[in-house]
Amino acid sequence: MKILCISASNNLKDGIKETSSFIICQRVIREAKKKIAQADCSILELKNYMPNPCTNCLMCLGSGRCAIDDAFNEIYEKILDCDVLFIVSPHYAPIPAKLCMIMEKMESITFNPWLKDNSYKPEVVGIPTGIISHGGTGEDWALREYEKVVNYPIANFLFTIPKSHAETRQLNLVAYDDWKTGISVPPVMNYKDWTDLQIAMFADYIDRVIQS
Ligand SMILES: Cc1cc2nc3c(=O)[nH]c(=O)nc-3n(C[C@H](O)[C@H](O)[C@H](O)COP(=O)(O)O)c2cc1C
Repeated sequence: MKILCISASNNLKDGIKETSSFIICQRVIREAKKKIAQADCSILELKNYMPNPCTNCLMCLGSGRCAIDDAFNEIYEKILDCDVLFIVSPHYAPIPAKLCMIMEKMESITFNPWLKDNSYKPEVVGIPTGIISHGGTGEDWALREYEKVVNYPIANFLFTIPKSHAETRQLNLVAYDDWKTGISVPPVMNYKDWTDLQIAMFADYIDRVIQS
């Protein structure tokens, strides 16, 4: 099983070796390997790529790839190649710009052909996808805010195609009980402050995504 964790952080600040998103991705992998020891896990850090925004040139129609963005195409190939995807995103008032660019292009690649032919299935259809957000604060109210402003927009791009055609939707968002759009976790720098419940929820969510 190939598990890809996208770290959406773009934190290039001097002295920062590992971003919080990267550390959370490492924890995702640690949990996943407890369940499937031989899983082939990797982390893709958006901070190391320079994608650009969609211009609606529609040159992706037919090719299914962006005509002007090699960075996006490289990321997209890695998504296509995985069996399970995790998107780990910080709150960047609201979400990191590079993640938006990836979502814009995946939406164009998915939606435009679908509009011409409602039986079109995106190449990424069905890949179980977990969304994990985090931000500067770890209190319960803040995590529920991140759910609204970070998880929801990411989940929303997966819903490009109407519910009536759910079988042709891109990716397959995995919910966690009443966390319908993935979970939100407290800052990792204070990992020891995570409650037992939060640690269990994190482990349980990773398990749920990889078992989907
Ligand atoms: C551009 C930018 C905007 C941010 N906006 C918010 C915010 O509105 N609310 C918040 O709680 N944290 C905000 N943060 C803090 C980050 O969410 C927090 O530092 C997070 O741990 C960064 O994760 P990273 O190391 O993976 O980039 C912001 C950070 C950046 C760089």
